[in-house]
Amino acid sequence: MRYMSSEYVKHETDVLIIGAGGAGMRAAIAAFDSGSSVTILSKSLLGKAHTVMAEGGIAAALANVDSKDNWEVHFADTIEEGVYISNYRMAEILAKEAPDRVRELEEYGALFDRTPDGTIMQRAFGAHTYRRLCHVGDRTGLEIIKTLEDQILHRDVKFFDEMYVTKLLKDGDRVVGAIGLKLNNGEFHVFNAKAVIIATGGCGRVYKVTSNSWESTGDGLGLAYDAGTELMDMEMIQFHPTGMVFPPGVKGLLVTEGVRGEGGILLNAKGERFMERYSPKKMELDARDVVARANYAEIMAGRGTVHGGVYLDITHKGADFVKKKLPSMYKQYMDFAGVDITKEKMEVAPTVHYQMGGIRVDPETTSTNVPGLFSSGEVASGLHGANRLGGNSLADILVFGRRSGEGSSSYAKKASFGKLDEPTIMSEIQRVKSFLGKSGTNPYDVASKLEENMSEGVGIIRNEESLKKVLDAILELRQSAKQVKVPGTLKYNKGLLQALELPFMLTAAEAIVRGAIERKESRGAHARSDYPKKNPALRKNIIYSKGESGMKVVWRDVPVMPENLRKLVKEEDY
Ligand code: FUM
Repeated sequence: MRYMSSEYVKHETDVLIIGAGGAGMRAAIAAFDSGSSVTILSKSLLGKAHTVMAEGGIAAALANVDSKDNWEVHFADTIEEGVYISNYRMAEILAKEAPDRVRELEEYGALFDRTPDGTIMQRAFGAHTYRRLCHVGDRTGLEIIKTLEDQILHRDVKFFDEMYVTKLLKDGDRVVGAIGLKLNNGEFHVFNAKAVIIATGGCGRVYKVTSNSWESTGDGLGLAYDAGTELMDMEMIQFHPTGMVFPPGVKGLLVTEGVRGEGGILLNAKGERFMERYSPKKMELDARDVVARANYAEIMAGRGTVHGGVYLDITHKGADFVKKKLPSMYKQYMDFAGVDITKEKMEVAPTVHYQMGGIRVDPETTSTNVPGLFSSGEVASGLHGANRLGGNSLADILVFGRRSGEGSSSYAKKASFGKLDEPTIMSEIQRVKSFLGKSGTNPYDVASKLEENMSEGVGIIRNEESLKKVLDAILELRQSAKQVKVPGTLKYNKGLLQALELPFMLTAAEAIVRGAIERKESRGAHARSDYPKKNPALRKNIIYSKGESGMKVVWRDVPVMPENLRKLVKEEDY
């Protein structure tokens, strides 16, 4: 339904999905197939999602290549990689359901690479016990997005592209809708929904060097936090070991782990295969945090390349193999760097890739602590704990995206439309308009100061002193963000979008830093030079919520794993 007011266009839908990446689209399919009317909002265009940056494969224990693989081993790998702070139930659900979600994707039309006997091909990835990554060359995320997009287009799902949501609307405690600015025409739209799903992806753009695309500014985190939702484990930021380093315009762009999965090796400028020193057994296929820190250590020790990276070499596999297995990497290096990776080594360095933390959700339905609000995909937390296995993000978006769709649809069936508060809507419209003007702070200056602070002080290795400096800077930038002004109108105004993104970016960054200060140990992706060891007493989650006087940070126990699952994972000192 669509109504017009002089200030905004109004819509009603059973389930409103904010975000059109893999999780949002899979949720839309499930909610629609469960009998709900569904509307999806995307900040950019259909098919343009960070999902495509999971290139090397989707993890699912199909056991097509290594017959010993099964859900139990996948579960154990996930818990161990998460360094024992993952939600065990989410890991169990993921490991059990991922194979069905992959087979379903195939039924939807996805064309995976094949084994000689015609089953889905699986490749090795870091810290997976078996070859488990189902893939489409090095374009797996893209194939998944295209396949889901095709399914969406064949259902009566309403889709609004270039719709930037600025606020969730509540009726009492319950989320009952959202307000958005249609970026390409400057219209305000108000959506009244029985249930809302946040599937907006991550916040990598709070850093200067990242594999994340421009959309990943932590919008969903900020929306949920402002609406009273708990966030969890935000200090856990994954640095992918291999991003491009040169030329500067593509610094941070992902170089898939698939290169190492297919036999690529890491070398320093002296030609040494340095992983022999850091991880003699697993070498280049150790966990991402281990390989990323090794690359970083080599660069810091002065054994890096002229552009500040290390080398990744796949030339020994031959041109035909490389072009067949890694066609995107071949093209990416050829087009952007003029490097033929079948003949020359790639220059790579760690790049911010993924947030393990995010909105705290219930594993069964993905509901949050705020009634009417659900969440899945990278913006949600729990599954990956302190570190994520490569390929588990694609499995996550399908498994928990579907659960979000079903959970929200079943909630919507029992709910009525909540009341929208007109003064709240009008004051939000005024807030957005208030950024238009001639003299004020430039939003890009605030964003770039934030990115620089985060990259310098909250990087791959952290310490108390630099973290505290960054926290002070963030609190100052919060004030600057309020003084921001941009010229132009509401219509297609990139400066205005940056102004609107800033508070969400600052919330994401503040949570990352506060958690990193609080966690006085090194665990998974969170490495502190002043607390280099894991502390078993801190085998807990950190929870963030909006308090009267700012962000509240508390510790909470990790749910206790039942014995049948406990016996699957390695005994260790946590
Ligand atoms: O390296 C990659 O292809 C990324 C995969 C992932 O993050 O899951």
